[in-house]
Amino acid sequence: MTADKSQYVWKKVHSLMGILPLGMYLCMHLFLNSFVLLGKGSFTDGIALLHRMPYLPVLEWGMIYIPLAIHVVLGIIMIFDARYNTIRYGYSRNWWFWFQRMSAVLVFAFIVWHVYTTRVQLMLGNVEVDGFYELLQAQFQHPLWLAFYIVGISAAALHFGNGIWGFLVSWGVLTSRRSQRAFAGVCIAFGALVLAGFVNVAYHYSSGKSEGGIIPLVEGEAVHASPAQVTTVEILD
Ligand code: HEM
Repeated sequence: MTADKSQYVWKKVHSLMGILPLGMYLCMHLFLNSFVLLGKGSFTDGIALLHRMPYLPVLEWGMIYIPLAIHVVLGIIMIFDARYNTIRYGYSRNWWFWFQRMSAVLVFAFIVWHVYTTRVQLMLGNVEVDGFYELLQAQFQHPLWLAFYIVGISAAALHFGNGIWGFLVSWGVLTSRRSQRAFAGVCIAFGALVLAGFVNVAYHYSSGKSEGGIIPLVEGEAVHASPAQVTTVEILD
């Protein structure tokens, strides 16, 4: 394979890893953590269910750690390879190109700290699954860690939203200038939605409320139901 061809293939692998396993995981992570809006019991039941899942390590390594390692190594090579010209040419796409790289550095620092203070502590036996709620509440009620969470989730939402745009361009879905311009807004709006979801969870913990966040729950949601309570279905004939 020529150097150009192999660079082309690695670029595709990098963007695929960013969207399929990692972006999908980020959305799943948001949904799982949003259980907290229904109260501590629902969140703890959700995490406990995840930990009872057969083949969990396969999912964690296959969907998070291996794709993340590939994405990070290729991303570092791309950061050092890039030429930055935002000062000379202040086009908005040039700025997004720069934001994408800077947010990558912030997300990486955040993930290392976040995984160390949650998953690694669980592995070391310093926290139990049913102690995660208190652990997160303490983090979100500490001004420094709250600020770090806000930086981390904002950088992750920006990196993911703009990353979807990059993926669609790189895989030849958005080919015309018009479609690329139109879709930039859609992708950023999607990133903003992900950010709003995480901010809602952050607000829940930092406010000390027992249920809910800033965004009101949709009417009809089973606010007090935990998975253990909804397993019985009455059959009427
Ligand atoms: C409001 C914000 C967030 C909260 C409350 C939160 C909460 C948690 C909790 C409770 C765990 C431990 C789960 C377990 O072991 O079962 C965890 C793990 C993790 N989180 Fe987050 N998280 C947040 C944001 C993020 C963001 C933005 C990212 C990615 C950029 C992220 C990436 C991860 C990863 C990679 C793990 C390790 C997963 C595993 O090994 O199973 N988190 N988080």
